[in-house]
Amino acid sequence: MIGLIVARSKNNVIGKEGQIPWRIKGEQKQFKKLTTGNFVVMGRKSYEEIGHPLPNRMNVVVSNTVAYSGENLVTVKSLQEAISLAGDADIYISGGYGLFKEAIPLVDKMFITEIDLVVEDGDVFFPEFNEEDFDISVGENGGEDIKYTRMIYTRKG
Ligand SMILES: NC(=O)c1ccc[n+]([C@@H]2O[C@H](COP(=O)([O-])OP(=O)(O)OC[C@H]3O[C@@H](n4cnc5c(N)ncnc54)[C@H](OP(=O)(O)O)[C@@H]3O)[C@@H](O)[C@H]2O)c1
Repeated sequence: MIGLIVARSKNNVIGKEGQIPWRIKGEQKQFKKLTTGNFVVMGRKSYEEIGHPLPNRMNVVVSNTVAYSGENLVTVKSLQEAISLAGDADIYISGGYGLFKEAIPLVDKMFITEIDLVVEDGDVFFPEFNEEDFDISVGENGGEDIKYTRMIYTRKG
């Protein structure tokens, strides 16, 4: 299964000045639950923002300039290489923009958390895609000061 996980604001922002522009307690639980024991793929900048491999899962960084490696950490040069590496294991594409754009035509499922926030001056956005390619279901709501809704997009057919 090729999955994609993202959280986006109401105006489609996913990043600002190299960071995710909100902090919501508990919001990242789904990310942990889905990716643990599986493969998680991220662009070099997203990896460097985290700064270390996430535990208990295979971290695959996509980069053509650096080569991070270690326990549960590998660097590849393309999304296709990451997908081949995962073989039959579940793989989750976790950003940023370029990887999402390349992955959307390939994904079976997208876990999109809609953050109830308009972010001014965002500099990284989730790519446009054709919603009609997917069946859409609504998952849990959460958050206190900032609310969010989980959406699951499953490719039709
Ligand atoms: N809200 C969310 O769910 C979410 C998720 C992830 C990230 N973010 C945010 O998004 C921002 C980072 O995203 P970004 O789009 O700027 O950067 P990014 O995708 O994390 O990293 C970009 C780098 O990754 C490598 N790369 C990406 N796609 C590639 C491809 N198809 N083939 C080969 N290499 C590829 C390149 O590395 P080299 O230059 O080393 O070749 C490229 O410069 C941050 O603000 C972060 O907080 C938000």
